[in-house]
Amino acid sequence: MSISRKGSFITFEGIDGCGKSTQAKLLLEYLNSNGTNAILVREPGGTRISEEIRQVLLNTDRRELTHRTEALLMTASRAQLTDEIIIPNLEDGKTVIADRYIDSTVAYQGGGRGIEIAWLHELNQFATDRLLPNITFFVDILPEEASRRKDFESDRIEEGGLDLQYRVRDTYLSLAEKEPNRIIVIDGYGSEAEIHQKIIEEINRRNIVG
Ligand code: ADP
Ligand code: TYD
Repeated sequence: MSISRKGSFITFEGIDGCGKSTQAKLLLEYLNSNGTNAILVREPGGTRISEEIRQVLLNTDRRELTHRTEALLMTASRAQLTDEIIIPNLEDGKTVIADRYIDSTVAYQGGGRGIEIAWLHELNQFATDRLLPNITFFVDILPEEASRRKDFESDRIEEGGLDLQYRVRDTYLSLAEKEPNRIIVIDGYGSEAEIHQKIIEEINRRNIVG
């Protein structure tokens, strides 16, 4: 399928608490105040159906959820978001910023849960009609620092603890090595403003928007 896409698609990735939602919001504000029409979505969620799926995925009282079901629900949530929000907005010429997308499934369900990555690529391709981001920012910090920054209770996936977060981070790093043109590793230890500046520079350098 060819998606006639006029807008740009930018995604943010990283372990829980790395600061990517903060950066996604700062980028949204920056673009909208500089004349680029942009929207922000988050995963899992972002549509009525995807938010319902999110409840099943993250609620700590759903401990019986198996890893394969988790992978299927993550990608089901993504399929709905892609069809309902991401593709129509890109076709409309808007810039779409997503707080998590395909790489989260490879990092968490692959690296974190141990599902064969080839399956996850196929699931992602089916869920998104092969829609890839123009650029992905992987905000990188160590799990200990992320956990220090956290000021809320763990959800079902965060209950996997530091070991899971380390496996997730390693998988993101190897994805970034395999796709250096799409996935940019951003050092997550600077101030919010410093990290934001690096992201803007990268977007401008590559003419991603406008
Ligand atoms: P994520 O979306 O990756 O889970 P958030 O953006 O929600 O992370 O940030 C997690 C916590 O860390 C928040 O309390 C946020 O205010 C704080 N935070 C975000 N960016 C930074 C930063 N660069 N340095 C220190 N703390 C930060
Ligand atoms: P959320 O509260 O949105 O966390 P964060 O601010 O860290 O993004 O929770 C989303 C959780 O779902 C997070 O632990 C990562 C996980 N996740 C997956 O395991 N696979 C996926 O494909 C996606 C999109 C998220």
